[in-house]
Amino acid sequence: MKILGIESSCDETAASVVEDGRKMLSNVVASQIDIHAVYGGVVPEIASRAHTEAIWGVVENALLQAECGMDDIDAIAVTNAPGLIGALLTGLSFAKGLAFATGKPLVPVHHIRGHVAANYLVHEELKPPFVALVVSGGHTSLMRVDDYTEYSLIGHARDDAAGEAFDKCARVLGLPYPGGAAMDRLAALGDKNKYKFTAGSVDGAEYDFTFSGLKTSVINLVHQETTQRGRVMDDEFRADVAASFTSALIKTINTRLELLLSREGGLNVVLAGGVAANSHLRAAVAATAEKYGAKLYLPPLKLCGDNAAMIASQGYFEYLKGTRGGTDLNAFATKGV
Ligand code: KG4
Ligand code: ZN
Repeated sequence: MKILGIESSCDETAASVVEDGRKMLSNVVASQIDIHAVYGGVVPEIASRAHTEAIWGVVENALLQAECGMDDIDAIAVTNAPGLIGALLTGLSFAKGLAFATGKPLVPVHHIRGHVAANYLVHEELKPPFVALVVSGGHTSLMRVDDYTEYSLIGHARDDAAGEAFDKCARVLGLPYPGGAAMDRLAALGDKNKYKFTAGSVDGAEYDFTFSGLKTSVINLVHQETTQRGRVMDDEFRADVAASFTSALIKTINTRLELLLSREGGLNVVLAGGVAANSHLRAAVAATAEKYGAKLYLPPLKLCGDNAAMIASQGYFEYLKGTRGGTDLNAFATKGV
């Protein structure tokens, strides 16, 4: 069964054809990073317009590369939540029009479930149940996945997502948007014990995350050291801040994962999302999984960030479960997993 996936929840316009939820026949991603980099972050209105311009060509390319016509496609899966509302509506409206014109079923897909499904494309043996940790620019979610379409949220970010904290810290260090990957490289060169940063806890919600305090500590330190004390922001300073920040952020994520694994023995772990590309996070989560005898599943770097193959994959399992979207299907900026 071939599913055409469409993704436009943030700043990537993407389309892909996936067979039986596991076999990627094409994966086209048009990134808007260069457009938004000038502003230091994603500008929602500009993102919607860029999706509108790109979507037709991206979908055509995905079909071409998969050597398919619309006649070969069995269903259209589209991200309808969560994300930037105007951006989501662009992909959703396109998918609705295409489904109506071709008579193909339309399947709404939750973006966070899609990130998890990126792992099905590369790990043939991966099947629920497992624990999933999605760490991205917009989300930090710790979940139990009991079946392909049965999710329970265990913990989530109350304020900034991990990727957002990475990008904002990168910005005060003078790095271009999005700074996550540059922070990764810098952190490897710095002293993680140089600055004592900590991420807070949420009272009464031991699995939840809060990163805005950590982000503010970094911004304040950089301000004190440079503006107030006149220190030049050289590579050594940047590396030490990146390493100390990364270490504090990972400690928070890992502590919650460890707590969950210590209570829910025997479950394997799936890591996903843009920040799952972070080498330090990958290593830390791998060590925790090993400690609890859990197998760790990671997507390859090209499937960590937003793409439509992950949406087509999850769309297949949603289709089998009977999930369908009608002509009144809407998009939602926030939605429980
Ligand atoms: O999953 P994604 O493409 O978009 C959302 O759904 O949010 O994630 C993008 C985020 C950005 O914040 C980017 O800086 C971050 O992933 N990122 C990284 C790395 N590569 C990308 N953060 C830390 N280390 C990396 N290597
Ligand atoms: Zn994402």
